[in-house]
Parts: sequence; structure tokens; C-alpha cells
Amino acid sequence: MPLNSTAAPAGRGQCQAIDLIQKIDSIDGHWQPRVVAEMNDYQFKVVKVQGEFPWHVHAETDETFVVLEGELRIAHRASTGGEGVIVLRAGQMAVVPKGIEHKPSAIAEVKMLLIEPRGVVNTGDGAPGARTVENDQWI
Ligand code: NI
Repeated sequence: MPLNSTAAPAGRGQCQAIDLIQKIDSIDGHWQPRVVAEMNDYQFKVVKVQGEFPWHVHAETDETFVVLEGELRIAHRASTGGEGVIVLRAGQMAVVPKGIEHKPSAIAEVKMLLIEPRGVVNTGDGAPGARTVENDQWI
């Protein structure tokens, strides 16, 4: 099927193995998340990233990052003042709670899995920007 189709693949909803790295390797470009599966109202998205992503926040949902390859940094800051940076390496994950501003970045390429509710905008709640991608693109 075409890479940028918004239609779910025929295998959706079936019991099947999904090769995350193989899916990621078929994506053109960085910061282009693609849905590989859904569980109830949640989507599993794969993405490869390199460089800096803008600061953003999701007021209504937590967001899970699972690193498969590489080293991901997530700077974060709360409106109440707390801030810091977490570093995730292959096999590690983190949940960014809703309402926490965050900024993912990667010096070298990182391959990862994101888990979040269907409909979440990758750049958060503000106006769309250069990094905003269309939702619900399956691969
Ligand atoms: Ni986010």
C-alpha cells in the first residue's frame, strides 16, 4: 500500500507479528510517525528521529516513548517549576505525563515506538508547525 495512505492496512485487527524495525526502515525521513497497530483507543506508532523537536505539551494525555535503537533525550518542564532531562537507550521507556512540556532530541538517529491515544497531534496542543504531521497514517 502507498506509504502515506491514511487507510489502515488489511491486516489491521488480525492476530499477527509486527516487525517494528522493519516498519521504521520503510519510513522516509525523520519525525514522521506511522501507526502500526491499535489497542482499543490507543495507537502504536513507530518513528525514527534525529535532531531537535520543538517544545510542546499534550494537556489531555500522557505519552509513552519506547526506544528500540539509539539514545533519546527528553527535556521536560512542568508549569509548577520542575524540569530535567531523561536519557533513554535501547530497551528503555518513559511515560511523559499529560501537561508536562517536553522536547525530544537525538544526536544520532533513534528508532522508537510511541503509544498514545488515537488523535494525538505530534506537536502538541499549540498551532501546527513545520514538524506537525497528519495523524492516523498507517504503515
Ligand atoms: Ni509529545
